[in-house]
Amino acid sequence: MNRRNWLVLAATALIAVGAVPALAQDTVKIGVTLGLTGPLQIIGTEALAGMRLYMAEHGDTVAGKKIELIVRDDGAVAENAKRIAQELIVRDKVNILAGFTVTPTALAVAPLATEAKIPMVVVNAGTSIITERSPYIVRTSFTLPQSSAVIAEWALKNGIKKVVSVVSDYGPGIDAETSFKEAFTKGGGEVIEAVRAPLASPDFAPFLQRARDANPQAVFVFVPSGQAATFVKQFIERGIEKSGIKLIGPGDVTDDAQLNGMGDQIIGTVTAHLYSTYHPSAMNKKFVAAFEKANPGLRPNFTAVSGYDGMHLIYEALKKTGGDTNSDKLIAAMKGMAWESPRGPISIDPETRDIIQNIYIRRVEKKDGELYNVEFDTFEAVKDPVKAKKKGS
Ligand code: PHB
Repeated sequence: MNRRNWLVLAATALIAVGAVPALAQDTVKIGVTLGLTGPLQIIGTEALAGMRLYMAEHGDTVAGKKIELIVRDDGAVAENAKRIAQELIVRDKVNILAGFTVTPTALAVAPLATEAKIPMVVVNAGTSIITERSPYIVRTSFTLPQSSAVIAEWALKNGIKKVVSVVSDYGPGIDAETSFKEAFTKGGGEVIEAVRAPLASPDFAPFLQRARDANPQAVFVFVPSGQAATFVKQFIERGIEKSGIKLIGPGDVTDDAQLNGMGDQIIGTVTAHLYSTYHPSAMNKKFVAAFEKANPGLRPNFTAVSGYDGMHLIYEALKKTGGDTNSDKLIAAMKGMAWESPRGPISIDPETRDIIQNIYIRRVEKKDGELYNVEFDTFEAVKDPVKAKKKGS
């Protein structure tokens, strides 16, 4: 072997063992900040598992570039996410930011994405306003108004006219409360009381008592999926469903990842959401099997599928740009992209950079000894109604 070949071989070996970093231009760095610890950790754990599954299935090279994930835990706390994003941008020189389990972390990082001109892919946080906070934000998850307006329509059609709403008192909860009320009252329904519970307090008892005392036909609820099991436990403990008051809402409250532990009393609960582990497509069956194999004991939920789709968005955008990481080119490539997800057909609205997707009406049922959200009706290609309304007015 001549001297030149030997040097190339030695350099390759050093890169392979991580002794020297690969040439920066050969690597696309994705800085991921997620809440992987703390009371809402299930959201981050699922999202990361979805992202990793996509990479395991599609390889870690796209358009000649090696994809590197740099994963950090922000504990779902805004200040942590801001500090982490700063480090990812300045020290690690990431090309793309991704993650964001809760709205406050996404809002805290949005100005940094604008300043540094870095695409920011949101794989969970669901307050409508988020995508308007930076032209570099693209979302693969959902907005709360998407499913809240749909469940209002379903409730009205099914004879529910008097509702109490109970929501977590922060961005997505207020979005859910507002959009549900608007759609529900427009169709002749009445929200007789609107209760907001502090996000930091997982004790819903006093709020549920107020809801029960108002004697509605249904309680409309939004709590972040990490609090779903606690909420449902307290709802059942108070015998609310036994007294004939129904539980309705976006599907966060019957989160697939926690549903099996909620008990049979939850059977019959109807919610509206973007994804169910039980979604009957061939693609989803494959997705669920692969996810469960890679993550024993965990079912894929809506956050897992949003993480999976977030990686798809990044991979396909890089293919379109031929591996160019220029932010404006990547965002242009992402706008209007449409594909089949395990949740069904989805696309990125070229005007808002937000997701357009089917919202399914589902009922909790027992199948093969397990609890599932079984879809029985579909509202197709739903846009975020808040932004659609702003545009129309
Ligand atoms: C949010 O903070 O935006 C959020 C968190 C959990 C959810 C939905 C939205 O289940």
